Amino acid sequence: METTLIILKPDAVQRGIMGQIVTRFENKGLQVVGAKLTKISQQLAETHYEAHKARPFYPGLVKFMTSSPVLVLALRGNKAIEVARSMMGATFGSKAAAGTIRGDFGVSNSFNLIHGSDSPEAAERELKLFFAPGDVLDWHRAADAWVYDLAGGKPE
Ligand code: RTP
Ligand code: MG
Repeated sequence: METTLIILKPDAVQRGIMGQIVTRFENKGLQVVGAKLTKISQQLAETHYEAHKARPFYPGLVKFMTSSPVLVLALRGNKAIEVARSMMGATFGSKAAAGTIRGDFGVSNSFNLIHGSDSPEAAERELKLFFAPGDVLDWHRAADAWVYDLAGGKPE
């Protein structure tokens, strides 16, 4: 099982579509193991996106991410990182395929609604940035018996 860090960006919160986006992940079978509505600090936004520091869009990206509250989620499931990235769609709303979150809810390239960790290393780093120890919960989800084939002892 993997855990990934998802951020519903300021545009998603302001547009009132958090619920629709979370519903997609729940429908897919991913488990919410952490959730926090928060306003990201300048320092945290800069650190989170530090890989893009040299890019021309970096200052605008940091400004956008700190402009209004976001919903930070930790989602767990089989191949959760890859699954969430494919559900998000391509980076730019104008290019993202229909059926994906970015493809269905936006046309902007900068205001693209959602962030998701892009590798296990990134997920580990980002979960630590946004959640204190103990804020990501290992809770038993009764529905797992029907979301996964558990006959072999591990989720299939
Ligand atoms: P994210 O990190 O937010 O999940 O997005 P991503 O992996 O799909 O895209 P990434 O290349 O990591 O870019 C991070 C965020 O920077 C903004 N961006 N703007 N105007 C531009 O050319 C441009 N390129 C990237 C987007 O908000 C993107 O999500
Ligand atoms: Mg990225």
